[in-house]
Amino acid sequence: MIYQSLGEMGKYELFMVILLMDIIVSGWRFDGGGGYGLVDGLRMDYYYMMNCPFAEGIVKNAVNRHLQADPTLAAALIRMHFHDCFVEGCDASVLIDSTKGNTAEKDSPANLSLRGYEIIDEIKEELENRCPGVVSCADILAMAARDAVFFAGGPVYDIPKGRKDGRRSRIEDTINLPPPTLNSSELIRLFGQHGFTAQDMVALSGAHTLGVARCSSFKHRLSNFDSTHDVDPTLDAQFAKTLSKRCSDNSEQAFDTTKNTFDNDYYNALQRKTGVLFSDQTLYNNPRTRGIVNAYAFNQAMFFLDFQQAMIKMGLLDVKEGSNGEVRANCRIIN
Ligand code: HEM
Ligand SMILES: *[C@@H]1O[C@H](CO)[C@@H](O)[C@H](O)[C@H]1NC(C)=O
Ligand SMILES: *[C@@H]1O[C@H](CO)[C@@H](O)[C@H](O)[C@H]1NC(C)=O
Repeated sequence: MIYQSLGEMGKYELFMVILLMDIIVSGWRFDGGGGYGLVDGLRMDYYYMMNCPFAEGIVKNAVNRHLQADPTLAAALIRMHFHDCFVEGCDASVLIDSTKGNTAEKDSPANLSLRGYEIIDEIKEELENRCPGVVSCADILAMAARDAVFFAGGPVYDIPKGRKDGRRSRIEDTINLPPPTLNSSELIRLFGQHGFTAQDMVALSGAHTLGVARCSSFKHRLSNFDSTHDVDPTLDAQFAKTLSKRCSDNSEQAFDTTKNTFDNDYYNALQRKTGVLFSDQTLYNNPRTRGIVNAYAFNQAMFFLDFQQAMIKMGLLDVKEGSNGEVRANCRIIN
């Protein structure tokens, strides 16, 4: 890892250096011409243009502070951005609270264990004090996820900003989130509907290098799996016992051996048949995706590069601009 070899330089300072280099090398404008699938109006320098140059730093500092207190929150922030983008686009719909007349996305069973809402609220409050009405909740979420990847040891990358917040959040829309029972072909198809390649999908699944799952997400693998198997045959026998234990004492199972470190160990776990979710292990079992898993297990730099590109792409899903959205004053409530 070249970044880590820079030794005593703090991650924050390093980020500023890279940001500056980025500005010098590529200029300010994200003009959408460069192959991301493009959204006019989003720009790398959006908050400079909007006279709120502190926006990035405020988000980064807050994420750093929270992760130092609780490193497991990196997983929470990254997952929240994913759930936001796959439902109604990256428009912070995942942050909206239910009201009397509307049950919001966050109260769907698919939200299972989403955490970290308070971090976003805190950042929003600080930003509203500094530059009221300028920084959208959707951008805060996208920047926070990006910073979480970085502070957990993953790649550093810049993202275009300028998303607007949506005005809809309905429990029924969470049907667009992939359940952990999908096989590799189904995942390829579902992610393909959002414009992702199979390689993007395998790279994005690598977010499971961080965090944990609960029994409810994998118990279907442990009994009555299918008509011919009681236990999922793609699951290592010893690991099946570990998972059963998690179910009996209701504890969480980490996806890989380094749950707070962003690395490629998740792919090594798949090679060992110790993928936690069926949807994880299937990436290794299916010949269409096995080669990608092997490549990422072998070459962390390749995983990092593909992951950051796929995250930038994910962050552009059905982005709202102009009057199609708003900048919420409170991320939990539509203006
Ligand atoms: C490929 C399809 C995916 C499926 C089926 C899936 C499913 C799941 C499930 C079932 C959990 C565990 C929830 C629980 O038991 O509490 C989980 C956790 C997680 N997912 Fe995914 N996921 C997918 C893709 C992604 C993507 C694309 C990202 C982000 C880019 C992501 C980030 C995470 C993270 C970080 C966690 C851990 C959360 C924590 O520890 O708080 N997942 N996912
Ligand atoms: C997730 O949804 C459940 C209902 O299925 C709800 O009880 C829970 O509070 C929600 N979790 C969060 C963090 O909003
Ligand atoms: C994946 O699931 C679909 C639908 O259940 C099934 O038709 C297909 O055969 C499965 N693919 C593999 C490789 O198991």
